[in-house]
Amino acid sequence: MPVSDAKILDIPRHEDTRGSVAFLEQDAPLPFTLERVYYLYGVRDGQTRGGHAHKKLEQIIIAVSGSFTIHLDDGREKASFVLNHPSKGLYVPAMTWRDMEGFSDGAVCLVLASRRYEEEDYYRDYNSFLDQTRSQ
Ligand code: TYD
Repeated sequence: MPVSDAKILDIPRHEDTRGSVAFLEQDAPLPFTLERVYYLYGVRDGQTRGGHAHKKLEQIIIAVSGSFTIHLDDGREKASFVLNHPSKGLYVPAMTWRDMEGFSDGAVCLVLASRRYEEEDYYRDYNSFLDQTRSQ
């Protein structure tokens, strides 16, 4: 999928003097059926995450605390996004290589995923990913 399909979603929320609650429901704005939730935390200073692409998996990535940078690459075009607010989610389509870096101290990266964990869904070798995108 082209990296241009990646987009920042505004997560609906309710804010009042007590604080905020943000919510995602099917189609509003979740663009896929939710099959899995996971989160990254305790990422140490200078460490990177990601370094792979998925064949079919679509995701929404949210910085529920702190901030980090995501670099996306569809084999032709690249785009980078800074996530630094819990009311923003980045939609990442299938067949998109991602590298994540610049995690702030205490950052929590919540991922909403369209499929369960399947190692067969990963490209972990960048050149294999590129070969696949160029043969499509
Ligand atoms: P990985 O997706 O490579 O991490 P990241 O993208 O955050 O850098 O996941 C690291 C390991 O964790 C992977 O080898 C298998 C395991 N894992 C699961 O078992 N289930 C999951 O849902 C996820 C995301 C990872």
